[in-house]
Amino acid sequence: RSKTPPPLSAKDPSSFAYPTMKDRIPVILSKVVDHLTRQKSIIVQEYGGEVAREELKAMIGAISELRHCVMTNKPAKPLRDSRCDAVLWNAELARQINLKREQEEASGRDAGDELGLRWFDDAWLWMECYLYRRIQEASLMCSLLKSFDVFGQQKQDAFKSAYKSISQLTTYLQEVIDKFKGHVPESEIGKHFIEFLQVSLWGNKCDLSISAGQVMTHDHNPMTQLVALKHRLLVDDTNTAYGILWEAAGVKGQNVRVDIVLDNAGFELVTDLCLAEFLITSRLASHVVFHAKSMPWFVSDVTLGDWDWTLNNMCRMNHVATSELCQRWQGYLKAKTWEVEAHDFWSMPNTYNEMSSASPDLFNRLSQSDFVIFKGDLNYRKLVSDRQWDPMTQFERALRGFHPAPLCSLRTLKCDCVVGLESGQAQAAENEDPNWMIGGDWAVISVCERRDS
Ligand code: F6P
Ligand code: MG
Repeated sequence: RSKTPPPLSAKDPSSFAYPTMKDRIPVILSKVVDHLTRQKSIIVQEYGGEVAREELKAMIGAISELRHCVMTNKPAKPLRDSRCDAVLWNAELARQINLKREQEEASGRDAGDELGLRWFDDAWLWMECYLYRRIQEASLMCSLLKSFDVFGQQKQDAFKSAYKSISQLTTYLQEVIDKFKGHVPESEIGKHFIEFLQVSLWGNKCDLSISAGQVMTHDHNPMTQLVALKHRLLVDDTNTAYGILWEAAGVKGQNVRVDIVLDNAGFELVTDLCLAEFLITSRLASHVVFHAKSMPWFVSDVTLGDWDWTLNNMCRMNHVATSELCQRWQGYLKAKTWEVEAHDFWSMPNTYNEMSSASPDLFNRLSQSDFVIFKGDLNYRKLVSDRQWDPMTQFERALRGFHPAPLCSLRTLKCDCVVGLESGQAQAAENEDPNWMIGGDWAVISVCERRDS
């Protein structure tokens, strides 16, 4: 077996890591500073007077300084806030620096005393996660503004811009639910499973970190777009996914649990809720556990606050199918047919092959599932350790021993790391679209059936 390849890093100018550090991250941070500056009087009024004004000033200063640190490639500093995960982060930072020292020494270089992790020298995934935790530090150093979500407004605007697509999707889902009140042949279950899985997959195009906060336009019906998108699906393990659930539902009757590790708020979250509804309606699952983030993350990721905001807004939407579905979902949450939870591990820099040692409680929780669906690009990067894999590497090999339960990744490609392709596929995609790996226009549905718990 060949050696595990090195992680993606901005030290390679041909990697998407490089323009991310050089251009995308500074833009994301400038947008936050602009937003806080423009909203100053509203925020100060909402959070209470002079103290809030001073805190906001400090936050703006901290985020501007962070931007400067990235652009000038300063080393990562230990976190200063007292949130419980800060200790883990600082231990992880020390561990990474030690590893780097060992590597430097092994290759005969003098590591020196000033060794640190740097934006343009070290693992992209690690540095990018650290960036979002540092943004959180800027809030956590405040008392009145400590739970202020600097990306909240962007996420809410993205949701509002998707009203039309949301209405079309929920209208279609209502029709499917009505159909399932009568007898439906198995072929119909399979057909709709493919649809809702793929709607949730392509919902992942709508991430605000890649579009630098530019809200997507939703001009087309999300259901009718699926056919046109089909040939951009590079790996399609839908049948394996369906087989796992079909068998579990047959064997376990009413006790099938599916976990959905969420990615972005806005339209993508609605597509995930619709997929979960379909799983319940079709009896492919009896219980769905959603995993959200415990802090604002990668601009648009769903926090528990976004979850509540989204459901409240859907219930209030002036659209019958949407508000009725939403009330049904509130019922599922009360009855614990659906659960939503947030674990700090999702906002650590660890790759998922480290979950069983770094966070055994979460690993055990996932092990109780029948099928775990990981949404989006960042989850994919963590599943496959964000390495420079040959695209023909098997998905199972890239998971490096992470098998809590049968799992599936629904991911549109937004970084130069992909596995599971057949010979010639990468070249054909490249010929058609030189941005195929980073634009969110190509996708994979990758499944691993193994369970080693
Ligand atoms: O690769 C580009 C990027 O912005 C990454 O920073 C991150 O992995 C990802 O896209 C975010 O996308 P998603 O919301 O699909 O995880
Ligand atoms: Mg995201």
